[in-house]
Amino acid sequence: MSKCWVVIAAGGSGKRMKRTVPKQYLEISGKTVIEHVMGVFLAHKIISGVVVVTAVDDSRWQKLAPSHPKFLGRVEGGVERSDSVLNGLNALSPHVGPDDWVLVHDAARPCISKELIDRLTKKVMRHPIGGILGLPITDTIKETDHNGGIIKTVSRESMWLAQTPQMFRLQTLRGALNDLNQRGVKVTDEAAAMEFLGMRPLIVEGSETNLKITTPADLPLAEYFLEGQAKEFQQPEKRAVFATKRTKKTESEVIKKTSPKAGRRLMKRPKFLGSE
Ligand code: CTP
Ligand code: MG
Repeated sequence: MSKCWVVIAAGGSGKRMKRTVPKQYLEISGKTVIEHVMGVFLAHKIISGVVVVTAVDDSRWQKLAPSHPKFLGRVEGGVERSDSVLNGLNALSPHVGPDDWVLVHDAARPCISKELIDRLTKKVMRHPIGGILGLPITDTIKETDHNGGIIKTVSRESMWLAQTPQMFRLQTLRGALNDLNQRGVKVTDEAAAMEFLGMRPLIVEGSETNLKITTPADLPLAEYFLEGQAKEFQQPEKRAVFATKRTKKTESEVIKKTSPKAGRRLMKRPKFLGSE
């Protein structure tokens, strides 16, 4: 049976968050954003291995690198997200079978859950191309000119917001991104690379909880969703990945600013087993 591998894209600097710390390293509900993401994928039994892509000058990653049998290593990222993803795929490539899948996920989406991964993998494994999580658009959509004048209302029927994970045959996606690189075409997600080459990936309904932390307003929202998930955190496979450890007060500064309640909870901060 084809295996599933994961590339976590964490090579961005989070300019829109306007923080000195890149958003994947902000603490929220007791852990950094990237720790939340790694925990979910490493704990999932369908996943064979995880590669994390971080910026070349990243000084924070080392402290968080998990010592987990499924964590395969860290790779340096590139200028654009697609460059980072391609580097991750290249690193995995020698180790995977010809029909193996890869799930590419934004490090900035910490509320990804086992249930969403199940939903995506179940549907996509039966699909010839691959697919992504997405959300149907519920607001009315306007197209504007450069001065903000509304040109027209675009029908929202059949319109979706793309989320991650995005799941494709690893070698096919790698070939597609390489191809676009050579043609100088930039894409902002993996599905766009496949679409550009004439393929039609599947969209699987995701969840509003799987938000991408982009601006400061997203932080308390992500915390709210993670707190909800924490109530279901008693699942044995999740407990196996984490151990509880006391942490320094200084580590909680970021979240204390947005949520004093969450700041207090940081005294019981789960950490990866074997890290540090
Ligand atoms: N990413 C990456 N390599 C890049 C750029 C982005 O791996 N060269 C990752 C980010 O770390 C993030 C995901 O891609 O997890 C989605 O990108 P985005 O939300 O745009 O993150 P940033 O690029 O970090 O944020 P910004 O655009 O505000 O600078
Ligand atoms: Mg970006």
